[in-house]
Parts: sequence; structure tokens; C-alpha cells
Amino acid sequence: MMKKLIAGNWKMNGSRTQARALIADIVNNLSQEEAIVEKADILVCPPALYISDVRHALRGYPKIKIGAQDCSSEENGAHTGDLSAQMLEDSECAYVILGHSERRQNHGETNVIVAQKVARALKADLIPIVCIGETQEERDAGRAQEIVLSQLQGSLPDLESFHEVVIAYEPVWAIGTGKTASPQDAQEMHTLIRENLKDLVPKPEKTRILYGGSMKPENAKEILACKNIDGGLIGGASLKADQFLSIARAA
Ligand code: PGA
Repeated sequence: MMKKLIAGNWKMNGSRTQARALIADIVNNLSQEEAIVEKADILVCPPALYISDVRHALRGYPKIKIGAQDCSSEENGAHTGDLSAQMLEDSECAYVILGHSERRQNHGETNVIVAQKVARALKADLIPIVCIGETQEERDAGRAQEIVLSQLQGSLPDLESFHEVVIAYEPVWAIGTGKTASPQDAQEMHTLIRENLKDLVPKPEKTRILYGGSMKPENAKEILACKNIDGGLIGGASLKADQFLSIARAA
């Protein structure tokens, strides 16, 4: 079985002081409960400006990985305000979240742009976490599977050789709303994603598929026990060390 990945997406929350306190809290707790890091990979994705603070806090504790929340689709140059995949790698990020629904909605990111970003991330030796998921309207119209598959196919570049890629299924209606997909619905979608990965990546069985959307200590165990659910992408509950770690414990 694949080692599960528990990823915290801090989004645009907190201050530098709070970021430092949160990572210190996570490290303190994890170093007293090593079993968690043995059983699951732990990742935190702070706001880009606080990556260096988190990196310093993790100097003596490299078991926790750092990720960014986005990168540019361009390599470098005149792109004011953007960060390149190479810069993130240079700042010791191992992962980058790409195509999150908040970026698709608020920044007009299309599948084509997301696929370009994924290609940039891979070139810079980052592991992309590619987010896909349907809206409530799409689900109500019975189009959830069709939308998720078209995002999956459109958001991945041609991958001829094996590169680690992570997929995150995040139904948009479950993000930050307190509503979660039922374990049955989530498992069904994850299984569909796994089947379709066969045509898209060289080693589909090695591709982790995370669930995201109002994951919390109360529902984590049931969701993470499902077949084809290889971890979680956690927003709100990743901002509290005890909640984040109790989800990791469930993995
Ligand atoms: P949430 O966010 O856990 O707050 O619902 C998940 C995400 O957007 O990655």
C-alpha cells in the first residue's frame, strides 16, 4: 500500500508570527509521536512569504516537507508578482499545489494553464499536486464525473517518463463549507480517477490521489480508510496543529 500523504494548505491565512508558532507546534507534537511520520508523509504549504520561516523551523526536522500553493506557467522573466517553479525548488519546496479551485475561479486558470504549470513544476523537480473537482451545480446536473475527468485529462501535460505527480480530488462544494463528500461518493470518484490515470501517467498505481474538502478529525478516519484514497489536502483544519495531527494520526 502507498504511504499516505497528509498535506496542509494554509492558503492566505495568518501572520508571520502565527506561521512560526504553527510550525513549531506541529514539530513539537510530531517529535513526540514519531509513529505518525513513519506511517504518513506530512506536508505543509504555507503562504509563499513564510516558506523561509517554515524552512528554518524545519532545519532540525526534515521529516516534514514544504510545498507552495502555486507557481508560474513561465520559466522566468517579466512576470511581475509571479514565482517560478525553480525559485520554489531553490527555497527547498518539494511540492506545489496547482490548479486549486480557488485559483481556477479567482484567477481564471484553465486546464491548459494548469498543465503548463505542472510541466514547469516537474522540470524544476517539484512534485505537483494537481487539483480537480466539480461544483455543486455540476454535481446537481449529474455531470460530476464528466467534469472531473475532463479536468484530469486537460490538467496533465504529456508524461512520457515516470515523474511523481499527486492528484487531489476536491469537490468545490465541499471546500471550506463543512460539507464533505460521503466516503462512498469519494471512493467512487477516486476509483474512476485511478482507472483513467492509466492513459495519462506512466505508473498510475504509484500516483497518490488525495481527497480534499472539509476534512477534519471527525471524518478523516472513514475517508482515509477508503480504497484509492491515498491522503488528504486539508485547508481549515491544517491551521490548528492538534486538528492537523489528529487527521495525520487517522492515516
Ligand atoms: P478545507 O479546504 O479543508 O478548508 O475545506 C481544502 C482545500 O481547499 O484544499
